[in-house]
Amino acid sequence: MDLETVKKLDTKDPLAKKREEFFIPKDKIYLDGNSLGPLTLVAKHRAIEVVEKQWGHELIASWNLHNWIDMPINVGEKIAPLIGAKEGQTICCDSVSINLFKLLACALGINSERESILSTRENFPTDLYIAEGLQRLLGDGRCHLDLVEKYELEARLKTKPAVLLLTHTDFRTGELFEIERLTKQAHANGTLVIWDLSHSVGVFPLELDKWEVDFAVGCSYKFLNGGPGSPAFLYVADQHIRNCENPISGWMGHKSPFTFEQKYKAHQGMAKFLSGTPPILSMAMLDAALESFKDIDIKALRIKSIQLTELFLSILQENGALDQLRLCSPSSANSRGSQLAFSHKNGFGICQALAAKEVIADFRSPNLLRFGFSPLHLRFADIWQSCTAVKEVLEEGMYLLPDFNKHLKVT
Ligand SMILES: Cc1ncc(COP(=O)(O)O)c(C=O)c1O
Repeated sequence: MDLETVKKLDTKDPLAKKREEFFIPKDKIYLDGNSLGPLTLVAKHRAIEVVEKQWGHELIASWNLHNWIDMPINVGEKIAPLIGAKEGQTICCDSVSINLFKLLACALGINSERESILSTRENFPTDLYIAEGLQRLLGDGRCHLDLVEKYELEARLKTKPAVLLLTHTDFRTGELFEIERLTKQAHANGTLVIWDLSHSVGVFPLELDKWEVDFAVGCSYKFLNGGPGSPAFLYVADQHIRNCENPISGWMGHKSPFTFEQKYKAHQGMAKFLSGTPPILSMAMLDAALESFKDIDIKALRIKSIQLTELFLSILQENGALDQLRLCSPSSANSRGSQLAFSHKNGFGICQALAAKEVIADFRSPNLLRFGFSPLHLRFADIWQSCTAVKEVLEEGMYLLPDFNKHLKVT
């Protein structure tokens, strides 16, 4: 396939104009939106407005004047349509790790006759670390993390765990878990489910209400483009809200924080899941970035995401790069999210050599080269160019150079 043929796909792309809403450095091909989404122009302008006008000039009055205080609820409601949640079940706050701690404790509180948290060994480490931490805190008899392989989940559910804790899109391989089917199976065993949607939200059509998911969490700095460290979200199905007790019962989750009562009385709605003061600057960036999703159908994003990954694979196949890289993602597009992972013993060096050619991917230890495909800003021509760069890096053997193999704290 030649570049001219690929460029024609861009002329027919209904999402092509969305790219204009982003600041993408000239000549860079950004295949890492699954790790840190790029800056939107709306967020760039909002940053100046919030810092200079609101914080700078209007100071503390902004909590009321610009409704900073309700930002966690309002931003949560902007995320709600992206996860298939009706009003009143989504809130933006804290990190995924902290939110998982809260929700695991809530789920164990609801299913109080049981103690087991079932998850997979390959789950994202923070999800498992948080469950381990809760186990240490509550004791093994009250909370016990049970880890299995993916194929063992169904059988293990028959042991009736309290909670099933899974990540919808595997962070390494991009493999999708069957969220609807597993949720049903969990419920058939009286098990509550918590889904981590970090690598799915913003690129995959999610229907949490329809699938009767109990709880969910997700990152906002990946495909939602909220900016480095932007706060996460959490979802709690309507019927559970009243039964949940937030274990980090800070003043922002109180029913009336500014009465400064001595005793904690939880808010009745989603605000009960708040703990401390919201990070307004960061949340304002996310609020602005979410504007890009207002006028689009997530199904259209999914269609383009599949087209991008399929094109990437077919060009790599054609140009011979796949002779040296082993695909670790599912080969069927329907079984993977918006990313592709390849193993190579010099995966780290290849990632650095690609960056020197302005193609940004990332590396996951011990040997995975990971490419993320954000349909909002990627062009099909970018795919062609990045595949050419991959082929050149492999052919030239540049990845062996010491400069491309220096240890980095963040990969
Ligand atoms: C699946 C998944 N969950 C959680 C996190 C981290 O969440 P946080 O840093 O917000 O606690 C990540 C980060 O990449 C992730 O990929």
